[in-house]
Amino acid sequence: MSTLQFPVTAHPSPATEDRRREILANPGFGKQFTDHMALATWTAEAGWHDGKIAPYGPLSIDPAAAVLHYAQEVFEGLKAFRHEDGSVWAFRPEANARRMSRSAHRLALPTLSEEDFIFSVRALVAEDVEWVPDYGTGETSLYLRPFMFASEAFLGVRPANEITYCVIASPAGAYFAGGMKPVSLWVSTDYARAGSGGTGAAKCGGNYASSLAGQLEGIGHGCDQAVFLDSETHTYIEELGGMNLFLLFSDGRLVTPELTGSILEGVTRDSILELAKDMGLQPEERRITIQEWKDGAASGELAEVFACGTAAVVTPVGRLVWEGGECTVGDPDVNGGAGATTLDIRRRLLDIQYGRAEDPHGWMTRLV
Ligand SMILES: Cc1ncc(COP(=O)(O)O)c(C=O)c1O
Repeated sequence: MSTLQFPVTAHPSPATEDRRREILANPGFGKQFTDHMALATWTAEAGWHDGKIAPYGPLSIDPAAAVLHYAQEVFEGLKAFRHEDGSVWAFRPEANARRMSRSAHRLALPTLSEEDFIFSVRALVAEDVEWVPDYGTGETSLYLRPFMFASEAFLGVRPANEITYCVIASPAGAYFAGGMKPVSLWVSTDYARAGSGGTGAAKCGGNYASSLAGQLEGIGHGCDQAVFLDSETHTYIEELGGMNLFLLFSDGRLVTPELTGSILEGVTRDSILELAKDMGLQPEERRITIQEWKDGAASGELAEVFACGTAAVVTPVGRLVWEGGECTVGDPDVNGGAGATTLDIRRRLLDIQYGRAEDPHGWMTRLV
């Protein structure tokens, strides 16, 4: 049972239909937002209260709000998909709700129940349902961003006594608008994204801030993104700044770094581990050294590498670049360098998300 209610205050001047259509024709990612947002407040005295759907707009925040100083904040990311019959569905929203609770726990924030999380998302999507791109418009969706932050105005270092929860929604276009192209990765050894006992397993803003210097270093070396290693030994692969990684060996082993506490437990990662079994692959979660990647690429035993996450679903990885060397997995002359199994996994996930295939694992939840 949801404890929060989300009564609607309609936007006095929502986007015109023409404007909305214009945006939906070319939404990009994370730049355009729908007419409304969901809000709720938590206080130490009253718990969660004052849920509402309000017109989208700037939040008024005190300059002393704890989040601006101590980064007490967590967020989530999930998508709503339009099916052929016009209904709108979310992919494993309960997994995002549970992860948000785990993240909140790590950041000493209050937890929101799974029911309240899903109810807030459903209330917002119901109000802004016209913003969910039509079925058949490519890999388009409505990206949902629930987040909560310490809004109490207080400069002492302790968990805040007032928290704001908010959900915003942003129409998203195809991630690979210009066709799928394998990404190149820089092996970041100067910078780690997260460390033992830290917040790497939580989806909190600080992890992303700490990944940016490594990203910039990668871009400086001509790469698209950086792959982060464990912070103690700089030996084991962890993940990218915003995606998990999989290595497929030619004998059918599909290997992903095990969850050591400094890696985010991706919903896509977990789903691919399930799908792999359906596909007759041998999924493995274990520590993987960066040397195993380099050796596998050299010997040809490493057949495919891909990254995965909600935004891009599955992204092939081609070049791996490090100080003094590089290697490549995949043949650029076949499917532009994307491996056949990578493409198969990607298609299977998308087919479930858009309702084109059976959903044997019960991953889809109807929102509208
Ligand atoms: C650091 C990080 N790792 C992995 C992922 C993939 O997680 P998911 O599949 O739940 O989107 C994300 C987010 O999308 C992320 O930010």
